[in-house]
Amino acid sequence: MASKWDDLAEWWAREVEQDPAYPLDVHPILRELMPRSDGLAMDLGCGEGQGMRLVGGDVFGCDVSLDLLRRANAGGTVVQSELPDLRWLRDKALDAAISVYLLDLIRDHASFFAETARVVRPAGELVVVINHPAFTAPGSCPMLDTDDEILWRWGAYFSEGSSTEPAGDGVVEFFHRPMDELLTSAAAAGWVLERMIERGLSDDTVARIPFYAGQQHIPRLLGVRWTRSEDSSQFTVDSPL
Ligand SMILES: C[S@@+](CC[C@H](N)C(=O)[O-])C[C@H]1O[C@@H](n2cnc3c(N)ncnc32)[C@H](O)[C@@H]1O
Repeated sequence: MASKWDDLAEWWAREVEQDPAYPLDVHPILRELMPRSDGLAMDLGCGEGQGMRLVGGDVFGCDVSLDLLRRANAGGTVVQSELPDLRWLRDKALDAAISVYLLDLIRDHASFFAETARVVRPAGELVVVINHPAFTAPGSCPMLDTDDEILWRWGAYFSEGSSTEPAGDGVVEFFHRPMDELLTSAAAAGWVLERMIERGLSDDTVARIPFYAGQQHIPRLLGVRWTRSEDSSQFTVDSPL
């Protein structure tokens, strides 16, 4: 069974401090996709607050872990909430929502898109950065070819599924859905795709973690910015919550 995030908080705070992939790979994607409006933004699954610090301005965080929220609170207002439930927020309350490394921890992605579409105003934005679906597919992993090239085994890419991965002294459950399901589900909730980024680990990260040498060409991160449709008659799903 997956660990509680309060039990993983210490580990996660150390990851943020020590893993070079955050400053070198994740933050650049978030900067490139940054919401353009300067209105009220929410960071969903804010953790210890690195996304809130990066976005700046009028931003508040929400997360399930009280321990991590105490740390994030230094950078702004925080709310404890188990996502994707956003019933505590009124319709169109936000100008933008951002979420880094959360959606692949959420079982019900349709509710995540429907609820964010409900609480973000028309023409507002949603920015998501997650592990790339090629990376989260159960059974996917790197393989060494006979000529020493590192290839990627796709595993059960085309089906939705989950895998349990070690995290500090505990485990985290990652929920996989292929790219077509992810994008179709967002569109059905009223999110209009504006920009999508797919990346591997950068040369700079690999130079600091030589274990990943040769894996730069393997899809590792996905970042997407959507705009909330102004025409709600296009939506094919209501928030199921
Ligand atoms: C991998 S960490 C990412 C934290 C932060 N976004 C960052 O980039 O540093 C995942 C975060 O999501 C939170 N989280 C996981 N499942 C959640 C849920 N169902 N509702 C709210 N927060 C959740 C965890 O407590 C943790 O802070």
